[in-house]
Amino acid sequence: MRVSGELRVPGDKSISHRALILGALSSGPSRVRAILRSADVQSTAVILRALGVRIDDTGSGDVFVHGAGAAGLGAPASDLDAGNSGTTTRLMSGVLAARPFTSRIVGDASLSRRPMQRVATPLGAMGAVFSFENGDGLPMTIAGGALHGLTWFSETASAQVKSALLLAGFTASVPVEVHEPAATRDHTERMMRARGVDVRSEGTLATLLPGGAMRALDVDVPGDPSSAAFLAALAALADAGDLTLAGVCANPGRIGAFRVFERMGVRIGWEDMSDSGGEPSATLVVAPRALKGTTIEAAEVPSLIDELPVLACVAARAEGETRVTGAGELRVKESDRIALVVRNLKAVGADAEELPDGFVVRGSDRPLQGRVETGGDHRIAMAFGVLGAATGGAIEIDDPACVSVSYPSFWADLANAVA
Ligand code: S3P
Repeated sequence: MRVSGELRVPGDKSISHRALILGALSSGPSRVRAILRSADVQSTAVILRALGVRIDDTGSGDVFVHGAGAAGLGAPASDLDAGNSGTTTRLMSGVLAARPFTSRIVGDASLSRRPMQRVATPLGAMGAVFSFENGDGLPMTIAGGALHGLTWFSETASAQVKSALLLAGFTASVPVEVHEPAATRDHTERMMRARGVDVRSEGTLATLLPGGAMRALDVDVPGDPSSAAFLAALAALADAGDLTLAGVCANPGRIGAFRVFERMGVRIGWEDMSDSGGEPSATLVVAPRALKGTTIEAAEVPSLIDELPVLACVAARAEGETRVTGAGELRVKESDRIALVVRNLKAVGADAEELPDGFVVRGSDRPLQGRVETGGDHRIAMAFGVLGAATGGAIEIDDPACVSVSYPSFWADLANAVA
């Protein structure tokens, strides 16, 4: 298989969610260019609209969010449906905790199984009242109101938890300090700072100081590195050629997978580095080389958490062993990604084994053939789609449409990249 050409992957999912939420909390209109048009981001837009925020979609690529400040968010008339989106649920729970009304968040079967105490406990400590009908998952009812400040030592390295607390602190106008076990993506901090909010980050500590309004700001959403990673993986697995991925967000907290590809032997050129709205971006030129296995440990995990399924698929074609540890969070993503990745690798004939907090994959060049069960998980579908497109692969994906959550044009982009 040979790759060629230049592609621009869709807008970053994390930044798209935040552009809508921060736009809603700002005073005045914010234009969002190149927002990701996917089911997850749509869930955030639908919820904000249900709270009274006007969001105009020009249809030409730009979206306008008409923020009326935190006080502009009013009680919803019905349940808020977050669909499949953990980011929507957790970030919005921070905002809702600080507003004086009750709301109930629901989601699909996968989201309803995911842990929400991680936001409910600290937001409860700030003064909001959370109640659950099914253990730790959705539906979740939030009775919000005046909050007090919080210093929180998070047990899990989670940008969603950190962001929920920073958003609660801003919305309630109280100070918040979040200590994390490992540094996670800092889009919320960067984007709040760009809008005039006093948020500081130092390594694993994020601090928000209250006071003042959030300024409306136009934003250009860079390409999603988590989507670009699938195409970079395709180039890594190719026999020849190279692939250019233009305008990819190069936030240091998001590019761990590309660093790992480089460690495995892949050649990546980082070109046209630029900066937009506080987020760096770059054009990546990815070309195959002989692949060798590698080791990924806890400190690196947050910078590539969503890319571990595709890294596992690339490892199946690398020489030697790839060992991932410190990634127990994978068990509570859109699916149990440790179990599903390993089960599917075995189903197509690769050598893989589960660890409690990660996995081991031993690479080979034998044919990889069979049917993959995605459990409706978009990143499982795309990871195995890439593996199936490489030489020696004949892989059927049970639910290819589930990519609509984060990367609706994935299958077309994959086909275009294969020369
Ligand atoms: C995200 C953070 C990560 C990531 C998710 C998006 C975000 O989740 O897996 O896809 O936008 O903050 P955690 O912070 O829960 O690890």
